[in-house]
Amino acid sequence: MQKIIASLFAAILLMACNNSRQSSSSSIVINPYNYTVVKKVVAENGAVVSAHPLASKVGVEILKAGGNAVDAAIATQLALAVVYPNAGNLGGGGFFVARLANGEQVSIDYREKAPGKAHRDMYIDADGTPRTDKSQDGHLAGGVPGTVFGLFTSCKYTKLPFAKLIQPAIDLAEKGFVITKREASSLNNLQKDLKKYNTIMPVFVKDKWNEGDTLVQTDLANTLKRIKDKGAAGFYEGETARLIVEEMKRGGGIISYEDLKNYNAKPREPHSFMYKGYKIIGMPMPSSGGLLVHQMMKMIENKNIGAMGFHSTAAVQLMTEAARRAYADRAEYMGDADFYKVPVQQISSDVYLQERMKNYDPAKATPSTEIKPRILTGKESEETTHLSVIDKEGNAVSVTTTLNNSYGSRTVIGGAGFFLNDEMDDFSIKPGVPNMYGAIGGEANAIMPGKRMLSSMTPTIVLKDNKPYIVVGTPGGTTIPTQVFQTLVNILEFNMSAEDAVYKPKFHHQWLPDTLHLERGFPTSTKDALIKMGYATRERGAIGRTEIIRVLPNGKFEAVADNRGDDGAEGF
Ligand code: DON
Repeated sequence: MQKIIASLFAAILLMACNNSRQSSSSSIVINPYNYTVVKKVVAENGAVVSAHPLASKVGVEILKAGGNAVDAAIATQLALAVVYPNAGNLGGGGFFVARLANGEQVSIDYREKAPGKAHRDMYIDADGTPRTDKSQDGHLAGGVPGTVFGLFTSCKYTKLPFAKLIQPAIDLAEKGFVITKREASSLNNLQKDLKKYNTIMPVFVKDKWNEGDTLVQTDLANTLKRIKDKGAAGFYEGETARLIVEEMKRGGGIISYEDLKNYNAKPREPHSFMYKGYKIIGMPMPSSGGLLVHQMMKMIENKNIGAMGFHSTAAVQLMTEAARRAYADRAEYMGDADFYKVPVQQISSDVYLQERMKNYDPAKATPSTEIKPRILTGKESEETTHLSVIDKEGNAVSVTTTLNNSYGSRTVIGGAGFFLNDEMDDFSIKPGVPNMYGAIGGEANAIMPGKRMLSSMTPTIVLKDNKPYIVVGTPGGTTIPTQVFQTLVNILEFNMSAEDAVYKPKFHHQWLPDTLHLERGFPTSTKDALIKMGYATRERGAIGRTEIIRVLPNGKFEAVADNRGDDGAEGF
């Protein structure tokens, strides 16, 4: 019965997107051999900003062809699955947040799920040793992919036929595209893992990649064509499902036909709150991001941070202490709310958050050992990628998707051409054992079949006067919510331009480990003052890749791509 329902659902999903819709037959042409990286545009009619210039171009061409921001977001994601294999994906999952022109707020959860054969202790050896090697690399690290189901779920809001949205991705995979220096270097760094974790050598294996090489992905093009022809069933059933399950058999993975057929994305009520007159719309569980940003912003709201000044010791210290307290709650209470009662209302209430800040001391660091998750009564290289889109009709879309680590599990599904995620590592594989981002957890985020692993992805939209004002998000594992928090504070409190808000060095604290991470370039005087107050600091390289669109007072769209990568902004 479940099978029949799943097949019917796939068919309905395809129809929802399809192809009965009229659109001009002219196809979208992108030159994949000659493109420039544009970091900032100011546009009147629409803008797209993503991790790859070709993907942003695809999105803008879709807008020009009459699509809305949701059409563009879908086409951009599909293009990223081809041109940005580090994180763009078919084999992973993501979150979609939108504020539509009609005022509707939408969020869609297409986070991966634990396979049916997964169990709580699957990454713990008989002697109790946690096996993060298995939760992070290779076949067993993969959750059931959600991206394709998510794309078809968001099709409910599109204008153009799905065939038109997916065709640019098919062309880019089939004809190839020229890779950048950064891409060549990341593929070269991957070679050892590719050989280790693949049963059939994928196209990414090569003696040496160079800037300017063309990457052709025929298997991936064929998978995309099956999706074009059959809708979600072109991925979760038939040939693609067969290739996934065969890959699992060859490599010791556990994703089954049943898991694929039973996968579903879920529309959810977005997590929204007000901050000084702005409405902030984010992703609910299983993203911790919406709630963490809510907690952190409310903890600083009455502290007049604007007067403290950007990168001042006082401001950085206050935001760090807010982050420390919010992340302690993350470790204890947050997980897939379909499986665990997450006390969202309680831990985002003003009373609770003021109480949480009672032991905040502006003169010194609060040790994390003194910030226990509260006992509530009635207990209830890394890579991800973000894209922001806006159109002139008033639709704003914020999407973050991920394979978890860069290139996910490093396993490419033989014959299907896409990387499988390693999202299982986002579960708490054993209480107190850190995942690859150092995050710990317990019961709330324990593995169970069909459960979604807790995420930090934080696609966010800010409304001002009830109209889209900021569309923002970033990759960066557990640093995602603190980066979105900082970008918002930079604009809303320090009145910074979008460029400065994104490009200036960031910082990060996540309760445990009790370390304040400072991005390279962070002011030394502030760092020294913080060390004197008792902070253990650690310098690190780039924190995330924030993609932002801000609506200017004249109504134009200012789209800024992060300068920490090859990211590109496009508009018209
Ligand atoms: O969902 C999460 O929180 C992580 N899987 C995100 C991974 C990520 O951002 C990696 N990128 N730098």
